[in-house]
Amino acid sequence: MLNIGIVGTGWFSGVHAEILCRMEGVRIGAICGTNQAKAEAYAAQFDHAKGYGNAVEMLDGEKLDAVYICVPPFAHGEIEVQLIDRRIPFLVEKPLSVDLETPQYILSRLQEQAVITSVGYHFRYRDSVRMLKQELQENTLGMVTGGWMDSMPTVAWWRNQATSGGQFIEQTTHLVDLLRYTAGEVEEVYAVYGNRSISQVYDHVTVPDVGTVTLKMKNGVVANLSNTCVLPNGDCKVGLDFYHSKGILHIDRNGLEKSAEGVRTIWTDTVDPYVKENEAFIHAVQTGDASRILSDYRDAFRTQEVTVAALQSAQTGKPVTINE
Ligand SMILES: NC(=O)c1ccc[n+]([C@@H]2O[C@H](COP(=O)([O-])OP(=O)(O)OC[C@H]3O[C@@H](n4cnc5c(N)ncnc54)[C@H](O)[C@@H]3O)[C@@H](O)[C@H]2O)c1
Repeated sequence: MLNIGIVGTGWFSGVHAEILCRMEGVRIGAICGTNQAKAEAYAAQFDHAKGYGNAVEMLDGEKLDAVYICVPPFAHGEIEVQLIDRRIPFLVEKPLSVDLETPQYILSRLQEQAVITSVGYHFRYRDSVRMLKQELQENTLGMVTGGWMDSMPTVAWWRNQATSGGQFIEQTTHLVDLLRYTAGEVEEVYAVYGNRSISQVYDHVTVPDVGTVTLKMKNGVVANLSNTCVLPNGDCKVGLDFYHSKGILHIDRNGLEKSAEGVRTIWTDTVDPYVKENEAFIHAVQTGDASRILSDYRDAFRTQEVTVAALQSAQTGKPVTINE
């Protein structure tokens, strides 16, 4: 029986915990929150779980086989380092941090001491994405456009640049990762961000609420990803369009749509990608075979490089080249 710890007592800890509770050979043994009372209250919903007020106490107090890290972007660093030092595999939610320095340090520690890692880029586990990759292999891709057009999440940390990193780093990162996964590595980015209306609706908003990022890919493909969080709750448009030599591939939350010479074909997802992501990670912890994990820390770092470079470009007004 694998003994799992979870850091974070918010929305996404709950999503992972619910999946873990349905899996055989797994139990949630410990919950870490920002204080003891919160962690204990959260832990009470699981049969064997104990609550802890910080990660070091949890790791000293329990023998854990793996840990899930589901904290806001600003809270990364010490938790991952503790887990690497103790050789404990971890699944960490995206994004890796608000910046590049923290993930760079974590990656350097992983290079000294390898542990199994998985990062929550769940789009990669969708059937429709597997189909998309297959279709793209058969055609010459020209360009990709798309975006994450949404309302603003209500958690306070999200609207603060220092604690979330802003929409492109926090949320649109899923599309950047999907672009990398399907269309290749990014060579250069140029971004323009703006502040239109969200700061008049909510207090203490320091994140931009509109932005567009042009990406030059190493293979010559040109991409553009935009995002906004100005929309009212309930209005949302998230997806990518791939323009290639035989037509258009459109992927969004509903699935993949192929248009080729006037004929439309649609694939919908039948498997929950979060379940597949969790199964791949737990399988790796149980067997040592990490081949089913589609995003590990090293790969996710490259996505973080792109999203952080976009912020730098928006701040300087200049294109930013991504390191080799
Ligand atoms: N993959 C996905 O589809 C997906 C979806 C939603 C959220 N997420 C990611 O999951 C992460 C968490 O998001 P959420 O929606 O659960 O946020 P949330 O605000 O609901 O929960 C975050 C939790 O982390 C706790 N926390 C903060 N610092 C901590 C620390 N140092 N130690 C222990 N706990 C700490 C907070 O108290 C809170 O309980 C974010 O990075 C978000 O981007 C991913």
